Amino acid sequence: MEKAVEGAIGKSVEESDYYRTFIGPGDKYDQFAAMQFNLLTHLGLREGNTLLDVGCGSLRAGRLFIPYLLPEMYHGLEPVEWLINEGVKCQIGEDMVRIKKPVFSHDENFTLTVFQKKFDYIIAQSVFSHATKEQIRRCLHEARQVMTPTTIFAATFAEGAEDYAGDKWALWATYAMETIKELADEAGLVCRPLDWPHPDLQRWVLFVTQDFEGTIPDLSGGENLMLVKKESEFCKERLAKIENHPYVVIGFKISRLMRLVGFGINNAMRWFRCDK
Ligand SMILES: C[S@@+](CC[C@H](N)C(=O)[O-])C[C@H]1O[C@@H](n2cnc3c(N)ncnc32)[C@H](O)[C@@H]1O
Repeated sequence: MEKAVEGAIGKSVEESDYYRTFIGPGDKYDQFAAMQFNLLTHLGLREGNTLLDVGCGSLRAGRLFIPYLLPEMYHGLEPVEWLINEGVKCQIGEDMVRIKKPVFSHDENFTLTVFQKKFDYIIAQSVFSHATKEQIRRCLHEARQVMTPTTIFAATFAEGAEDYAGDKWALWATYAMETIKELADEAGLVCRPLDWPHPDLQRWVLFVTQDFEGTIPDLSGGENLMLVKKESEFCKERLAKIENHPYVVIGFKISRLMRLVGFGINNAMRWFRCDK
């Protein structure tokens, strides 16, 4: 329990929830999971793809990815072994491990090559927001070794004007977008900022190889749809207000009266012509 309180990001927590609060705000554990699962599936992740979850923690996202992917497709890199053990115990259970055979490594130096395979998707959520520049450099360099021309590597970082200059894993480490782009370039990768929400206001970026041959779907569609819906509701409200305005109501009455008068004149003319 003592160990638990020392490292917790959350303030006062139940011992049973510690595996959740150790890696972020306990009340957003589910949102952080949904955000990652939705993003990767929007980016094309399917059950037959290989996925590497860098700094997978207590399987916050893994608890969705592991049941979804086919056996041996999920890979988690996490130096803090007890986090994964708690994730298995409290979130997915041993049966899921037996059926889906996730592969884990507790390497502490971002050795992504430890799994000895290439990945279709890589994710590092809330990892660079704590990492030193050297760790990010190492992670991107290693990532390049396990990426193909169609791999998509999605990551978040805390954007800030100043780069974190420390040499230790930190509670919060900010970097300028330019710095992240430079580090990607050094590793032979291209960094593309991504418009995808984050409960902690971190920035999403995608890393792809310089000879990227895949496709990145336009993720702005959903938002556009929401905007169009809001716009149309706004227009309907305005129209209702205009239609109920007293001047407009009078205008409608006059126009109806004119139509009636016009109808009367037309009929009278017709009758007059026939009569002749
Ligand atoms: C804020 S948590 C994010 C966990 C997970 N990505 C998620 O979104 O649920 C950061 C994680 O990075 C892990 N971490 C720390 N050093 C690491 C390293 N050298 N390589 C990989 N992960 C590391 C931490 O133990 C922790 O689980």
